[in-house]
Amino acid sequence: MSRVEFPKAGTIEVNPSILSADFACLADEIAVIERAGVKMVHLDVMDGHFVPNITIGPPVVAKLRGHSKLFFDAHLMITEPRKYAKAFVEAGTNHITFHIEVEDRPEELIDVLHDMGVTAGICLNPETPVERVEKVAPLCDMVLVMTVHPGFGGQEFMAEAAEKIRRIREIVGPEIRVEVDGGIDAEIAPIVVGYGADTLVAGHAIFSKSDRIAAIEAIREACR
Ligand code: DX5
Ligand code: ZN
Repeated sequence: MSRVEFPKAGTIEVNPSILSADFACLADEIAVIERAGVKMVHLDVMDGHFVPNITIGPPVVAKLRGHSKLFFDAHLMITEPRKYAKAFVEAGTNHITFHIEVEDRPEELIDVLHDMGVTAGICLNPETPVERVEKVAPLCDMVLVMTVHPGFGGQEFMAEAAEKIRRIREIVGPEIRVEVDGGIDAEIAPIVVGYGADTLVAGHAIFSKSDRIAAIEAIREACR
């Protein structure tokens, strides 16, 4: 299994979501973003239950692991994260984010993930209030704020949901990453960075462009 270090807080990182990439050649797509100098890649895992879509599972992650040294950030949009976490860790995932909406004992699951040697994150849907994660957020390595309803790439950014980033940043302080996911492009990125986000997931804004590297650079440039 790879030993990729978690990118410590304190930098703005563009985190490409492969959901909008060409699934027929994922290894090549990841090689391109690696050339752009990104540190992490966002893997959207969907089970057709928690969200109305199905994407990738551990066998795909395991194959990709053989092609990339990037930090694998798995976003589990599944109803039973506890049941499948180990399989994702064994496949070579470096970080696992699960949703607060499906977990009654989030603090315990964070411990389980840490004990398995990966970093851990909690995610909240647009309609979920910050209070739901207040206790668990400081135990995480990264907190993920959804700015679209999870399930599909290329949706429109929900400005109201993004405002929760401010409160999350207050709760976790500067040492924990705050990730934002959904509808992020070069125009929106500086707004969410202004709220306190430092990890910018972007799918459509990168993989809908023929020049993925220029698209990543445009998001970075907009935040400088
Ligand atoms: C949505 C996923 C996101 C999505 C982001 O369910 O969690 O990671 O792929 O894609 P864009 O940037 O296209 O909104
Ligand atoms: Zn995601």
